Amino acid sequence: MRMSLHGPALRALIATALFGGALLLSQSQALAADAVADRVERVLRLRADTTHGRTLFSQYCATCHGATALGDPAGNYPSLAGQRPNYLLKQVADVLENDRSVPEMHQLMGRWQFEDPQSLRDVVSWLADLTPNAKPGVGSGKQIAEGTRIYQADCAGCHGRFGEGDNPSYVPALRGQHYSYLKRQMAALATGHRTGMDGEGRQRLGRISLNQLDAVADSISRMPSERDAVPDGNPFVPGGR
Ligand code: HEC
Ligand code: HEC
Repeated sequence: MRMSLHGPALRALIATALFGGALLLSQSQALAADAVADRVERVLRLRADTTHGRTLFSQYCATCHGATALGDPAGNYPSLAGQRPNYLLKQVADVLENDRSVPEMHQLMGRWQFEDPQSLRDVVSWLADLTPNAKPGVGSGKQIAEGTRIYQADCAGCHGRFGEGDNPSYVPALRGQHYSYLKRQMAALATGHRTGMDGEGRQRLGRISLNQLDAVADSISRMPSERDAVPDGNPFVPGGR
């Protein structure tokens, strides 16, 4: 596991990610970024016990996210299988610190061992090792060429040519994710209802029309999972998370 970001670098990255590249953070924003960075750093230092992670997941998370974390095709619950571990960690930390609002999860997070860094480490590592969803919910299929064109021009620079994400930069993988969930998150990020994507990503999302947003979400949901993409020359190295 690569852990290239520590201390001030991680804090700066998280502050930028959380607050949309704002140059001047208010004191409370800086504190929130610190709290998220603290949690993430503490957890990354630990060694994972994925067997324990699996037990915890089936006990606390599977009712919503599914037994093998594939979410639901209607997109109410995202697939978490094969997601980048640093991103997973940061999302959970964001929910814990109220930087991302997930009402369904909040109650659980507050009372559960998520306060315990080792449990968090174990669950996230188990999730990251799972095979991504090979059959996520998809859209109408009518505008895939247009969606792919926009994705490669505006999104691939951060999210990767194959939607594989980038672990050291906390950029999520998008392949294997449900169309409706992607669409909802894109709209939330574009309008600032969800923070976390930096200024450039948000601007790019904000520039595309609703119709294009639909096309992009549909084309992403049809991307092959990264394992399938390897023989076609996916530059991503499996295991290089
Ligand atoms: C009561 C239902 C529920 C339970 C239980 C639950 N979640 Fe969630 N989770 C959700 C919903 C709904 C979302 C998506 C929220 C949204 O649309 O923004 C979500 C989103 C997430 C995300 C962000 C995914 C992404 O791609 O950004 C992570 C990570 C996550 N959950 C992890 C967990 C873990 C780990 C557990 C168990 C400790 C858990 N969840 C338990 C409902 C739940
Ligand atoms: C400058 C880099 C950058 C660019 C460009 C970018 N993104 Fe993102 N994106 C991010 C980061 C970082 C996050 C994670 C935000 C967080 O931590 O909450 C993200 C999150 C997302 C999510 C939420 C994923 C989830 O599991 O909840 C979606 C969907 C998404 N981006 C789609 C897009 C699309 C579509 C484009 C192109 C129009 C795009 N992004 C362009 C960096 C970028």
